[in-house]
Amino acid sequence: MTRKLAAGNWKMNGTGAALDELNAIAKAHSAPAVDILICPPATLLMQAAALTADKPLDIGAQDCHPQASGAHTGDISAPMIADAGGAAVIVGHSERRENHNENNDLVREKAQAAHDSGLTAVICIGETLAERESGDTLLIIEDQLSGSIPDGATPDNTVIAYEPVWAIGTGKVPSLDQIGEVHDFIRKNLTERFGDTAQGIRILYGGSVKPGNAAEIFAVPNVDGALVGGASLKEADFSPIINALEDEA
Ligand code: PGA
Repeated sequence: MTRKLAAGNWKMNGTGAALDELNAIAKAHSAPAVDILICPPATLLMQAAALTADKPLDIGAQDCHPQASGAHTGDISAPMIADAGGAAVIVGHSERRENHNENNDLVREKAQAAHDSGLTAVICIGETLAERESGDTLLIIEDQLSGSIPDGATPDNTVIAYEPVWAIGTGKVPSLDQIGEVHDFIRKNLTERFGDTAQGIRILYGGSVKPGNAAEIFAVPNVDGALVGGASLKEADFSPIINALEDEA
């Protein structure tokens, strides 16, 4: 069974001083029973990877361009992330789908680029509040799964993060039944497409995960970890979340 995964998405937060928190996280978890991934802003990627090179903690990026190189001012590519010491990259985060008009096709191309460079693609999906309220959640999830995941997905190169858009950064969390329903649906969908190997593809929950709600979320079947935003910025917040996941491991 693949190990559970505690992933932190720092978003557009953190300058050099934030590496102290990364150090503290690494120090507090020198022999973790789960995988730990921190995705700092691109400006800190190399330093973060160098700092944690001999630690059981992986560094990832928050986005990549679908192409390996070229005239794309401001973008970074998957080979660049790998070269900087990154092991993973988040693709299709709802903030990118919304702020940068990213659709499923583009997200799948980015995930493919990650795979081609030996990176794990953390592919994000999730419904908006309007979609949930109109009863379309599973339809949206199905569409995002079939459109955003490359055919070559395996437990080693792909992680799915279910992040209801309305739960991100809002303090609002779906009920445990709602989380369970979507995670079960994702597992079933992945198994139909990829067969038994899909049992090993980690499905993370993301959206307002905090020390106070982590344990109950991690107890939901088919929740294999979390993608944590705000509460991953400080060791004092992220550590208890990692510990709660270890309790389920
Ligand atoms: P949040 O963000 O934990 O701050 O809600 C989660 C995410 O966007 O990955």
